[in-house]
Amino acid sequence: HEMRGMVERVGTFDLLKGKILANLFYEPSTRTSSSFTAAMERLGGSVIPINEVKYSSVSKGESLADTVRTLECYADVIVLRHPETGSAAIAAKAAKKPVINAGDGVGEHPTQALLDAFTIMEELGRLDNLTVTMLGDLKYGRTVHSLARLLSKFNGIKLNYVSPEILRMPKEVMEEVGVPQAEYTNLDKVLPETDILYVTRVQKERFEDPADYEKVKGAYVIDPEIMKAAKQEMAVMHPLPRVGEISTDFDDDPRAAYFRQMEYGLYVRMALLAMVLGKA
Ligand code: NCD
Repeated sequence: HEMRGMVERVGTFDLLKGKILANLFYEPSTRTSSSFTAAMERLGGSVIPINEVKYSSVSKGESLADTVRTLECYADVIVLRHPETGSAAIAAKAAKKPVINAGDGVGEHPTQALLDAFTIMEELGRLDNLTVTMLGDLKYGRTVHSLARLLSKFNGIKLNYVSPEILRMPKEVMEEVGVPQAEYTNLDKVLPETDILYVTRVQKERFEDPADYEKVKGAYVIDPEIMKAAKQEMAVMHPLPRVGEISTDFDDDPRAAYFRQMEYGLYVRMALLAMVLGKA
């Protein structure tokens, strides 16, 4: 909230003046990468962007640990997105400086979970006593793995998982999450009780067999007609990008929170950078 207020009042300020962030992205990104860059620059710091890994030493076969050790010579904090699960933990182990996980394959996306929690608080005014329905690709979607874990820290949370049979929430996540959870293949039964509908994209790039992707793409599409069965006071969220799971006809509905959610990513990442660099 403080970061949001500062951005609205002055835009950019000097909390992290002189600090440098290395933004190391081995996978495509629009929102996460640019919001970390904007967050750092709005705090008065600067950014070393490394997006096109094919032009860097990584393409020469350098290990992740060595790349991270190199970047921490020049930067104060490293933000890493990488296609392999566990890569952020490997990087954090190799580094002496803070490493922030911006998505490790199908593993986790913890900064997304933080901004999702902030969004739920903004939309509904509470983070407890909620029925949260996660819809879509719960197997490969890392955002829902992190969000389920984070929400399970709060009281009175119920999680519904709605997905095609082959894209169910992984067992290891369900075992860690100590709140009531239920699985469905159809949204109808749970939509009326849902406080947060968290929609995800089917993660095409993670499928081993493209035929499997063809079978499940477009499995669920949220539109104004379907949403007639939902409460008036609830919110529809999506980490974005969407590829058809939410009809654009729904965008003007007050319950459509996904664009606000995207904006909050800036403030949450500003706060996180300030915290890990000892300024909060
Ligand atoms: C998500 C991701 O990269 O996991 N995008 C994001 O960071 N907002 C979701 C996705 O790619 O589907």
